[in-house]
Amino acid sequence: MEAIILAGGFGTRLRPLTYTRAKTLLPILNKPMISYLMEMLPNEVRKVVLAVNYRRDQIEEYFETNDFGREVVVNDEPMPLGTGGAVKFAEQHITGTFLVLNGDIICSLDLKKMIEFHRKKKAVSTISLWPVENVSEYGVADIRKNGNIIEFIEKPRPEKAPSNLINAGAYCLEPEVLDYIEKGRLVSMEQEIFPKIIEDTGRFYGYKFDGYWIDVGRISSYIDVHRLLMKNKKIKKIEGNNCEVHGMLKNYSCIGENVYIGYNTLLDSTIVFNNTHIDNNVVLKNCVVGENCVLGRDSDLRNTVIGDDETIMEKTVLDNKIVWDKPIPVGYPDRQIGNVIEK
Ligand code: GDD
Ligand code: MG
Repeated sequence: MEAIILAGGFGTRLRPLTYTRAKTLLPILNKPMISYLMEMLPNEVRKVVLAVNYRRDQIEEYFETNDFGREVVVNDEPMPLGTGGAVKFAEQHITGTFLVLNGDIICSLDLKKMIEFHRKKKAVSTISLWPVENVSEYGVADIRKNGNIIEFIEKPRPEKAPSNLINAGAYCLEPEVLDYIEKGRLVSMEQEIFPKIIEDTGRFYGYKFDGYWIDVGRISSYIDVHRLLMKNKKIKKIEGNNCEVHGMLKNYSCIGENVYIGYNTLLDSTIVFNNTHIDNNVVLKNCVVGENCVLGRDSDLRNTVIGDDETIMEKTVLDNKIVWDKPIPVGYPDRQIGNVIEK
């Protein structure tokens, strides 16, 4: 069996961290996000197609140096083709029933059980489902008791949402789904293809599961996923190798390798990437700090994200800011292009 991991897209809601890296390589507890997806795949999956475009060189390099015991193909789109277009672009690798995973999901879904469910139902498509309150940010399903989905709406206005069950971003699909996707153009799986399959086949199913689920698409959920996974592991902080910590890490903070934390400095629900130096008497609450940064002493930063290679002067006070003082990479969009919210 093959699995396609959707690892393209710019990750605009995670800028400036994604100005310099692929979203799926963002560290979670100091391990790239994509490694969690690789580890979640059942044994039956022997080949993984990584659907990439933006920053594909970084993804390629990561897989050259990290072996997950499966064949990995890096499938580079000439331009972003959207969630459906990217699946179509991987068509030559598909030999039968296959999986598709959004590359920014961390969850406890048991894919083996979902595949069994899919086979039992003789479904054309099975998608994983998760209940949420803010449905408008997701794809929403109207589901019958037997799991049959009769309607799917991507990012509906709250009053148009048919339920509180959203597309959790993992699919088990039959190859005939590929025939619904037009080649060579931007196609949204959720907006264009799912509704057509429901209408044409009636064999579109939803699979609910227990445990946890997070779309790591926003800075707030990026911090949340650290808290969630550390709680699961019953730990409250993480320090990478080679760190020098004089201050304190609390509330599920995590620092990478070669990080210096000065005297009387406090990290509260804060993530710091590799090779960053934080001086004395600094407070960081709900912040993410990129690689190779220097933060001057006596600063107070809250709800702030700092991109790679930034310097923060001493005595800086910031709340709810994005720090990036270099040019934005050429071609990087100023907003999300694929699955946009209905206006
Ligand atoms: N290869 C490729 N090409 N991948 C892409 C492209 C593209 O053009 N556009 C997006 N992706 C990848 C993203 O990197 C991400 O892993 C996945 O496809 C989904 O795209 P997002 O941009 O993260 O979509 P979303 O979070 O707004 O909505 C999707 O996920 C929700 C669950 O988190 C939809 O699938 C919703 O229906 C779903 O509820
Ligand atoms: Mg997402």
